[in-house]
Amino acid sequence: MQFDFTQLPPADRYRLLTNFIGPRPIALVSTRAEAGHTNAAPMSFFNVFSQDPPIVILGIQTRPDGREKDTMGNIRRTGEFVVNMVDMDMADAMILCGVNFAPDVDEFAFSGIEAASCRQVNAMRARGTPCAMECRIERIIDYPNRAIVLGEVLEMHVRDDCLDAQGRYVDSAVYQPIARLHADNYIVSDRQFQLLKPSEMHAYEAAQLAPAQGRK
Ligand SMILES: Cc1cc2nc3c(=O)[nH]c(=O)nc-3n(C[C@H](O)[C@H](O)[C@H](O)COP(=O)(O)O)c2cc1C
Repeated sequence: MQFDFTQLPPADRYRLLTNFIGPRPIALVSTRAEAGHTNAAPMSFFNVFSQDPPIVILGIQTRPDGREKDTMGNIRRTGEFVVNMVDMDMADAMILCGVNFAPDVDEFAFSGIEAASCRQVNAMRARGTPCAMECRIERIIDYPNRAIVLGEVLEMHVRDDCLDAQGRYVDSAVYQPIARLHADNYIVSDRQFQLLKPSEMHAYEAAQLAPAQGRK
């Protein structure tokens, strides 16, 4: 089957893109509401795109009636947000935070997430999350009915048990984030495996990276 995206209505593009581009990691994004309480919403139009500068990206749509979501309004007003990564222990709370609550609802409190303070941004993070990233807006790209937010990561909080003894790599038996597939389907990363380049390709790669004058 072929799908011409230049002709397809946006809802069909959404269905096809999110059905096939997955699993998508989930950012539970917490922000500070104008009244001071915590707003939280899951976003699976999310990923990391760079470490220098350290940039994560969110894609935030408007509501069906065209109004901006609370998350987006708070990000614009404060310039800050927190990305909380989600594992199975946080799955039920995450899905509750995805309910379209009124702006005066503290979604951490409603979903039973304990809030912890941040160091560099004026928003709260989820205490139980394996990893929380404090972010400041790097830029916002506005489109009709959506915005793409580039956030610079200022600080990362990692739960101690998620890292190996050297504190360098995740302990894959502990850190098993969930991710979104199509529609209401999710996957947990509990079946990890290693995939190595064939060893005979190492010499080839080294030659490619050698200074040009050394190459014949
Ligand atoms: C797993 C999951 C992923 C979601 N991803 C996005 C997303 O990437 N962008 C978006 O605009 N809404 C996304 N949503 C919907 C928002 O979380 C939902 O509209 C929420 O009510 C917005 O809350 P707010 O008004 O407090 O910002 C997602 C929902 C779920 C459950």
